[in-house]
Amino acid sequence: MNTPLSAQTIETIKATAPALQSHGLAITTRMYERLFVDPEIKRLFDQAAQISGEQPKRLAAAILAFAQNVDRLERIEGAVEKICERHVTTQVRPEHYDAVAAALLPAIKDVLGEAATEPVLKAWGEAYWYLAGIMIEREKRLYGQAAG
Ligand code: HEM
Repeated sequence: MNTPLSAQTIETIKATAPALQSHGLAITTRMYERLFVDPEIKRLFDQAAQISGEQPKRLAAAILAFAQNVDRLERIEGAVEKICERHVTTQVRPEHYDAVAAALLPAIKDVLGEAATEPVLKAWGEAYWYLAGIMIEREKRLYGQAAG
């Protein structure tokens, strides 16, 4: 089950949204460098989208939209649904979310440097898993429909 985010976490996420806006693309580009060390995960991605810089941009935009709407996620429901559909088409599995967490959080640290304090990284870790929980549930249902 997905535990709701604390008021403190929500505040930290919203406070760091401007930093993500300026560094979002650098963070996601760095994240993919870390993520693609694993060839199984690299294969899941359309390399054309990656090379053109499209995929990091889409992920940066999604993360930013999430940060800005973290206390009113109903506003990004449609966008999340589209991402989940794309994930199911490309065979993203629940266990892949661990690999993305392990790449994203250090990438935030790499790019933001000292601004990525412990409380900031902790808040982002919690927020990531909150969103991941919603997406994993939705993807499970979509896989179920595809099978049935
Ligand atoms: C909270 C976590 C995640 C977010 C916010 C996110 C966001 C996105 C977005 C915005 C897109 C583009 C959708 C579109 O084409 O319109 C996408 C596509 C994709 N994502 Fe994720 N994603 C997440 C987790 C993951 C994980 C865990 C994996 C697996 C390693 C993954 C693999 C992919 C793949 C393979 C695509 C399709 C790429 C392509 O079309 O070239 N994502 N994701």
